[in-house]
Amino acid sequence: MKTRRPAPRRRPGESARPSRTMLAAMAALALEARERAQARYSRFKVGAALKTRTGEIVTGCNIENASYGLTMCAERVAVFKAVSEGLDDFDAVAVVADSKRLIPPCGPCRQILWEYCGDVLVHMVDLKGRSRTMRLHELLPMPFDGGHL
Ligand code: THU
Repeated sequence: MKTRRPAPRRRPGESARPSRTMLAAMAALALEARERAQARYSRFKVGAALKTRTGEIVTGCNIENASYGLTMCAERVAVFKAVSEGLDDFDAVAVVADSKRLIPPCGPCRQILWEYCGDVLVHMVDLKGRSRTMRLHELLPMPFDGGHL
């Protein structure tokens, strides 16, 4: 016999798993943010859009600098902007770049996303509109986090 999971409890205004329409809207915002990328060294522009369960969307773009290593990825810019504004309880992040293969968040971004956003949907999109959506735990299957300390 199949058992049914109880419906997740939601606060007023909270949505279920982000719809395709919502993910597309997030990708559009990430695409706009990508235009603001400061990528003069790699020429690889990335945009991100991070959403809370209650619908706030915060964007980010990659920001490079002459010492290269201090570069901040679009995803982390979005997370740090959102967290510093007091937002939490995120459910999805969209990432847009122009690449032959869809780009997933890099390792450090996966760690930061895991710690601050949990097992969010990661919606990866390219400029041709191809996309793939995965859960963060699929990209970071054995995370190290505060629970280990
Ligand atoms: N980059 C991101 O912004 N997000 C990713 O997920 C991968 C890489 C940026 C960092 C750097 O500015 C450029 O892309 C090339 O690595």
